[in-house]
Amino acid sequence: MVLPHPLPLVPAPVSAIAREGRMPITATTRVLGHSPAAAQLLAAVERRTGIRLTPVETAPAEIELFVDPESSAPEGYTLEVGERAVIIGADEAGLFYGVQTLLQLLRQDDTGWSVLGADVADSPRFPRRGVMLDVARHFFGVDDVKRFIDSTSALKLNHLHLHLSDDQGWRVHIDSWPRLTQLSAGSSVDGHPGGFYTKDDYREIVAYAASRHMIVIPEIDLPGHTHAIGVAYPELVEAPVLNDTLVADSQRLEQPLPEAGKPYLGWGVGHSSVRIHEERTYGFVRDVVRELAEMTPGPYIHIGGDESLGTPQADFDLFAERATEIVVEAGKIPIAWHEMGSAAGIAEGTVGQYWGMTTPAGAHAEEAAHFVERGGALIMSAANVTYLDMKYTDDFPLGLTWAAVIDVRTAYEWEPTAILDVPESAILGIEAPLWSETTRTLGEVEQLVFPRAAAQAEVAWSPREAPDRVWASFRVRVGSLAPLWKAEGVEFHPADEIPWSAR
Ligand code: ACM
Repeated sequence: MVLPHPLPLVPAPVSAIAREGRMPITATTRVLGHSPAAAQLLAAVERRTGIRLTPVETAPAEIELFVDPESSAPEGYTLEVGERAVIIGADEAGLFYGVQTLLQLLRQDDTGWSVLGADVADSPRFPRRGVMLDVARHFFGVDDVKRFIDSTSALKLNHLHLHLSDDQGWRVHIDSWPRLTQLSAGSSVDGHPGGFYTKDDYREIVAYAASRHMIVIPEIDLPGHTHAIGVAYPELVEAPVLNDTLVADSQRLEQPLPEAGKPYLGWGVGHSSVRIHEERTYGFVRDVVRELAEMTPGPYIHIGGDESLGTPQADFDLFAERATEIVVEAGKIPIAWHEMGSAAGIAEGTVGQYWGMTTPAGAHAEEAAHFVERGGALIMSAANVTYLDMKYTDDFPLGLTWAAVIDVRTAYEWEPTAILDVPESAILGIEAPLWSETTRTLGEVEQLVFPRAAAQAEVAWSPREAPDRVWASFRVRVGSLAPLWKAEGVEFHPADEIPWSAR
């Protein structure tokens, strides 16, 4: 049964029952808990309400947080709000998610601030709930990335994929190949300013993400999307291959064609490749992967693999096999866009990221399935539903339309296990990518990401059969996030499919 007024929670919990009454929140409300999540709760309540709750070291307290591994599945939590509020996390991540749920229940009415009474028991459907930020087409600095982590982790998303290199720029310092950031980081789409992360910047992002229970996945896109590498090191990259689509699109968009050795400022794809038959290419890949691995505590390195349109299939497959093996040798699990599944000998255990359509075209389904045959698994990023850079409507000022026009309902109504013919257990979860060709500022990014990232968070977190896991319920619940997003300065798109609530 769909409740007419479900609790204002996104993603929908496994079980959430409204209780009568509300728990008032005032400066005398005491908080007991020794986890970082307790401090995060205090800070978030103060940002939202101006009220400084009172931290205490010993009971009694009105809000209590603790970890009990027996309480639920990994990343799970229980939350009871009656006269007191008690959050029990299965682990620190679960406690953090319990705090996010409490913050969604925090509401203002004529009597002041209070938390809606509730009994919640919750844990995620998929372990992988990701979002991607393309910092290559346009660059976003450390503070922007932190803001992005805050707003996406609040939706219980737990992986941040950073697309760190593309034709237009290289965005992370590599000691052994210093010209990458000296010569190839200053550019971005349309000649806008570029930028890059020093190693300390990158470590700061990784640590900040970890404090919000997000694992950072660094991507170096190879063997295509590598024009910028050639600006710094011409000996590593082939001359641009100008395919008909690229030439036509460049004319239509009045964008320049790629020229070897010069920064590429358009957004055409498929024209660049590293030199697959030269051994020094693999020395380069090995150095970059090693340095990235050294500063990445998370288990993954993404090696790219998409849209190598000018590369002969046999060369591409050879590269895919060698590059994924290099990641394994560096002690990490390779991730690749699904095209690399064409390589018979792709490293065992490589995770494929499926970015085809919800109805797979060409060889996409077979390529994706090959990762599973090789002992790997899949992340679902079906472009016509998860791509956050597609326009909401034809006339939306930001974004592209090549995959689809994706309104919020379309972003919400899809099922990750229904696209490919692989066992459900091979689906790790989902990722929603934000490509940044048309977004210069984080505010513009946010207009494309919110509310659709909330739809993807629910697809990834909530049980498939939960009564509230339907559009009629979701649109009301996501509308109830407006006051939270406004308080945090998130520039969400007020799509007219959603009944946005004032408080
Ligand atoms: C992609 O959208 N080229 C992965």
